[in-house]
Amino acid sequence: MEIVILKNAAAVAATAADLVAGLLSHRPASVLGLATGSTQLALYRQLVEKHCHAGLSFKQTRSFNLDEYLGVAANSPQSYRSYMNREFFDHIDIDKQNTFLPFCSDNENPRLVAQRYEQQIREAGGIDLQLLGLGVNGHIGFNEPSSSLASRTRVKTLTQQTMEDNSGLFSSTEFQPKLALTMGIATIMDGKEVLLLATGKRKAAAVIQMVEGPVTAMCPASILQLHEHVTVLLDDAAASQLENRDYYEWAYQQNESLKSRFGVFHG
Ligand code: GLP
Repeated sequence: MEIVILKNAAAVAATAADLVAGLLSHRPASVLGLATGSTQLALYRQLVEKHCHAGLSFKQTRSFNLDEYLGVAANSPQSYRSYMNREFFDHIDIDKQNTFLPFCSDNENPRLVAQRYEQQIREAGGIDLQLLGLGVNGHIGFNEPSSSLASRTRVKTLTQQTMEDNSGLFSSTEFQPKLALTMGIATIMDGKEVLLLATGKRKAAAVIQMVEGPVTAMCPASILQLHEHVTVLLDDAAASQLENRDYYEWAYQQNESLKSRFGVFHG
């Protein structure tokens, strides 16, 4: 894991946007794994900015989102499809036909939809760069604590904590989903490169478990310790409980100087 500690959330978004843009300039037909949540919003804004003012194109890009609520219509403002259109896809030149979410309509079997999603990812050649946020309880996608570390796309029941965390997006009279279709942990681990963003003090406990704790299903993000190519971008507050912080900062300086000599490696 490369742990990068930046001074604030804006710097996290700017650095993430540079990494995504770097990959797309190297390989415009990349397959991106996309995430939702409030942390990603600043990143999408930066990418839109680069599209509008710096020639960044998504014309050849395909994307697969991590998750989607079950029982929420795709055109509902609360669906992750609406979030992605509103915050990102409507403002860039991506072909929406090439943007996928694990959406399951009321009359479809979620198990078949999940299998089809896995197959679509495989047919696209796999995910080149998987973006991730981090749940306060250590979840990635909607893989809640106790999720199988070998899991594939499937239905997950949300924890009370996750429902509370996401409740701000639903008004009191609105139906709030308890279920979602999410890429599994093994699906995420198949991504060639992973970029996780976490900001704010509320994430500090999950960050320390993910980076310095044991690999355990009780902190699904800790599985990333076994991935070959993970970058974790943190702001100062999210990094505040890390014990090994001096080393991460020192190693980051060394890595930056290696990158300026040899370039960034995209697997
Ligand atoms: C939701 C998403 C996750 C995301 C998490 C963190 O639960 N399913 O993929 O990582 O929110 O969201 P936020 O960035 O709002 O803290």
